[in-house]
Amino acid sequence: MSQIPQVSVCFEVNTDRTEPDAVVQQRVHELPVPGLNDVPDGHVLVAISHSSINYKDALAAVAHPGVARKLPLVPGIDAAGTILASKSSRWSEGTPVMISDEAFGTTQDGGWRQVAWVPSEWLLPIPPGLTPAQACGLGTAGITAAWSVRALLDHGSLNREFPLLVTGASGGVGSFAIEILSKRLGQRVIAVTGKPSQEARLLDLGAESVLLRADFEDTTTRSLLSMRWAGGIDTVGSTGLNTLIRSTADAGCVAACGMAGGTDLNLSVYPFILRGVILYGIDCTRYSPSEKTAMWQTLASDWLPQQMLQELEMIGLDEVPDRVFALIENRHSGRCVIELPPI
Ligand SMILES: NC(=O)c1ccc[n+]([C@@H]2O[C@H](COP(=O)([O-])OP(=O)(O)OC[C@H]3O[C@@H](n4cnc5c(N)ncnc54)[C@H](OP(=O)(O)O)[C@@H]3O)[C@@H](O)[C@H]2O)c1
Repeated sequence: MSQIPQVSVCFEVNTDRTEPDAVVQQRVHELPVPGLNDVPDGHVLVAISHSSINYKDALAAVAHPGVARKLPLVPGIDAAGTILASKSSRWSEGTPVMISDEAFGTTQDGGWRQVAWVPSEWLLPIPPGLTPAQACGLGTAGITAAWSVRALLDHGSLNREFPLLVTGASGGVGSFAIEILSKRLGQRVIAVTGKPSQEARLLDLGAESVLLRADFEDTTTRSLLSMRWAGGIDTVGSTGLNTLIRSTADAGCVAACGMAGGTDLNLSVYPFILRGVILYGIDCTRYSPSEKTAMWQTLASDWLPQQMLQELEMIGLDEVPDRVFALIENRHSGRCVIELPPI
């Protein structure tokens, strides 16, 4: 049995919600680590080597009440590392694992720390061929893109006359979706972005062409627009999703997974009734461990987004605040992996 460290370096967020103008405090400091006798059976101690920054983590890092469901909170919905100690017969010391659960980084402390005791049901094996850094580079964004692609595949939106559309294209989910659809599955993909500076990168990831959000989004109240897409993946919500649904061709599928641009959706029923459009909601947390493991294996093999993995930005805990604000202010692209200091 490896020695259990007494403290864990972490990035912690706190604020006083009873004070309307309270400052959000972010600090890197040490938290005590419970010993073997202090945690229930079935728990596993993971030495976390890597985490990542998703949109949800950026919200947690500014203590957004919808995501940071407890305070103080260690954010980080993705984590990967090695088992340091196990009180579960299913997992043994030394196994490389990922941590994946809806509570991780929201209602319970997440992955922006060196070590974490977690229930064994939260663990997934790191698929063969992936390093912990790559597993976190893919992370929630990669698996959400994969579930979204699966929805289009299952509902017959691939290999159709019209191309597919991906919104929020420069972000994590959007970029993975473009590379998987175009480079792994040979589909024509049009990317929608708010950032003109991202055009060359998105073409390089496999987009056939790039539309600027202002040119794509339709703010009229027309119930239906000309059919342009075989379906698509929306990471933005609101007008972007609304426009995509109204311009999707007969029987096309739209996978809606994000809300970076808003949560409203003001539509008539015509796209669904007159064109048979399918709106498929994605929640990457709702799958069983065996479904998650199978999808991770597909993502790590046939659907591996190699180019995105080569672009991963590696940072330390001290660089997290800058990256968080870049995400919140939509000044970033691609994926950012956090390297935790070794214990
Ligand atoms: N359903 C699920 O299970 C699930 C899982 C993971 C993530 N998500 C959601 O999916 C979305 C994307 O996540 P992510 O980690 O890829 O985030 P991300 O890396 O921050 O990417 C989000 C992208 O959305 C676009 N965007 C940002 N702010 C916007 C605004 N105000 N209006 C319109 N577009 C905006 C930007 O792309 P452009 O500038 O290129 O347009 C940005 O790069 C988030 O809403 C996240 O919460 C859902």
